[in-house]
Amino acid sequence: MSTVTASASREHRITVRSLARRKKRGEKITMLTAYDFTFARIFDAAGIDLLLVGDSLGNVVQGRDTTLPVTLDEVVYHTRLVTRGVERALVIGDMPFGSYQVSPEDAVRSAIRLVKEGGAHAVKLEGGCNAAAAIDRIVSAQIPVMGHVGLTPQSVHKMGGLRVQGRGARGRARVIEEARAVQEAGAFAVVLEGIPAPLAAEITADLCIPTIGIGAGVECDGQVLVMHDLLGLSEWSPSFVKHYANLGALASQAARHFAEEVENGKFPDEQHSYR
Ligand code: KIV
Repeated sequence: MSTVTASASREHRITVRSLARRKKRGEKITMLTAYDFTFARIFDAAGIDLLLVGDSLGNVVQGRDTTLPVTLDEVVYHTRLVTRGVERALVIGDMPFGSYQVSPEDAVRSAIRLVKEGGAHAVKLEGGCNAAAAIDRIVSAQIPVMGHVGLTPQSVHKMGGLRVQGRGARGRARVIEEARAVQEAGAFAVVLEGIPAPLAAEITADLCIPTIGIGAGVECDGQVLVMHDLLGLSEWSPSFVKHYANLGALASQAARHFAEEVENGKFPDEQHSYR
């Protein structure tokens, strides 16, 4: 049995309860972003535990500079595509900017749309103490919530850019406080983004809920990457990203080869034509 098959058959369906057990047992959790049926199916079959329909779709699918313009309708649409491709993974719909900040009531309405129309099993939102009321209200509506603290891309203008967070004594204390607030509000897990590895290790040891790191070192309970970074499809990636494939180069090569064969009258040949 291959490694992929072995890990995929570990649990039939990933749930918030199985994730809590993983943390207790010290078993790592894997998460990737996905935005459509095709890649959701591939990642699910490969045994990835969590698929996040991230608002990063604003960057990697829509070609925008920030995630801020992404709408709830757009995330609902992409979540619907992803859930169709999944049998085992837990699908998390990311709550875009403006869909949960105004009031906890607004937040629960938005989360319900992601579950009801998109088929999400859980939702994710950015923020610590300032997001606690929204998290509490969504969890009260029986929807599991993943938090997201540290570098939160929806705060790009407030942070003055996408900067590593949690540096210096005050910065460290603030991220710890945010992570605790998210747990206290009832989140089942929390993304730690763009913070020093020793701080992420300290938070991971402090919290009962799993931490999922991105640019946060190896000690987190799990790791997440944006799929375009994983596969080498991004024009630019931050330094913490590891490319596990170079699909961008392969796609370009395939397109050039196709164009050459069409131009030379080599495609379609006999084998690829009807008689
Ligand atoms: O939107 C996203 O892809 C994310 C991950 C980077 C965690 O929030």
